[in-house]
Amino acid sequence: VRPFIEPVPLPALYTSIGFSIFALLATLYIIPAVGPAFIKANLKGIDLLKTDKTPVPESQGLVCAAVYILFLILFIPFAFSDSISNSTKKTREGISVIEFPHHQLSVYLSSLLSLLIATLLGFLDDVFDIRWRHKIPIPIIASIPLLMVYYAERGNTHVVVPIPLRFLFGTLVNLGPLYYIYMSLLSTFATNSFNILAGINGSEVSQALIIAISVILNDLLYLPWPLDFRIPLHLLGNRADVEVGGVWSAGMAYGSQELVERHLFSLYFMLPMVAVCAGFMYHNWYPARAFPGDTLCYVTGMAFAVVGIQAHFSKTLLLFFIPQIFNFLLSCPQLFGLVPCPRHRVPRIDHDTNLLHPSKALFMRPPTNLSTLILKTLSALGLTQLTTHPSNGTILEANNLTILNFFLLRLGPMNEKRLVQVLMCSQVAGSMFAFTVRYGLAGLVYDG
Ligand code: UD1
Ligand code: MG
Repeated sequence: VRPFIEPVPLPALYTSIGFSIFALLATLYIIPAVGPAFIKANLKGIDLLKTDKTPVPESQGLVCAAVYILFLILFIPFAFSDSISNSTKKTREGISVIEFPHHQLSVYLSSLLSLLIATLLGFLDDVFDIRWRHKIPIPIIASIPLLMVYYAERGNTHVVVPIPLRFLFGTLVNLGPLYYIYMSLLSTFATNSFNILAGINGSEVSQALIIAISVILNDLLYLPWPLDFRIPLHLLGNRADVEVGGVWSAGMAYGSQELVERHLFSLYFMLPMVAVCAGFMYHNWYPARAFPGDTLCYVTGMAFAVVGIQAHFSKTLLLFFIPQIFNFLLSCPQLFGLVPCPRHRVPRIDHDTNLLHPSKALFMRPPTNLSTLILKTLSALGLTQLTTHPSNGTILEANNLTILNFFLLRLGPMNEKRLVQVLMCSQVAGSMFAFTVRYGLAGLVYDG
């Protein structure tokens, strides 16, 4: 363990912030400028919840992805500017060469590779409407470069067992290969979960924006404040141990310098993410002048998987996905064919009042016993609403199983803008809950 935490390379950090401002301006400007070209290329969609049926440019997440990846590539030399300028060091014996941090470069490049695959997949999905069974494995394959780098870094695969379960499993459990399977599933989950929580103006991009801001706040907790001081480790005392992951992982042996570097890496990837999302949101806000398409869902989802895996906070990251996890679990009966799944599950609009109501899935055939049991349970829990046959009680219709329909069921009909605001509030509340669990409650079941 090194005796010091080196100061944060401020020029690199400021460059990242500067690039992000450029990225914001670029998305703000380019999206409307290329709209007509997208429509000409048949990348367009009809807004399902408006009376006006003029086509809106679709898949404009491609612009976000392009700007995002471009700035990440331009940033590479700056991310390593410290190593480039300090490649040699004077010692008592003469001049010694400081080794270039190749592992950090491979972390950065493999992340770019995964982001590029996600962009390609998302765009192909927009153009060809790829089938579910083909869509699911691709992000898993795209995560292989990340996992290989994780392995090469001797990434941790242990989890700390909560105190009440220690008499069974001991303090630490090595999940080994299971941990790698978990991380590759994380990339599939992150990419697809935004895509199935979609269909109202601003929904996809607002989720990405709020999660990116949450990740940045989490990263800031790990930087050595004040940023331009060299901090002797002994001054940090216990704080370093607790934050290094005494709570969640067994990464303590790394010392804090690595921890700072990993969270800086995450910051470098999240600052431009916030920028392109904010720029896109301006045009996607109700009434939308641009649609994100699957490209935006995939590239943003993959960016979160990348930072979660590479900066070793995938479990904390998952806590920021509470609304998406809820929506996914609720959607399972429809995704796995137990309940009919129409092409669009977006809420239904009543054009007279301009209010949204839950949309319904229609049973063409009577549901199986298993489907009936699941739907009756969900209905008893207040998660869906059923229409049953007046005489024999078979289910005829069920509200589509999405969090958006759930909000409309519980809070009553509302307009599209209000619904996206409710979704954003739930995302913010989810993040606040995540911070409480991660830094507050974890102390109750783990000894930090
Ligand atoms: C996913 C959802 C589907 C939802 C759709 C909406 C699942 C399994 N699939 O499908 O239920 O209806 O996203 O995006 O949950 N659109 C709007 N307003 C918006 C955004 C999109 O009307 O703010 C419409 C447009 O017609 C647009 C279309 O949705 O063309 C895009 O749908 P697409 O992304 O292709 O649907 P999926 O991702 O396959
Ligand atoms: Mg979609």
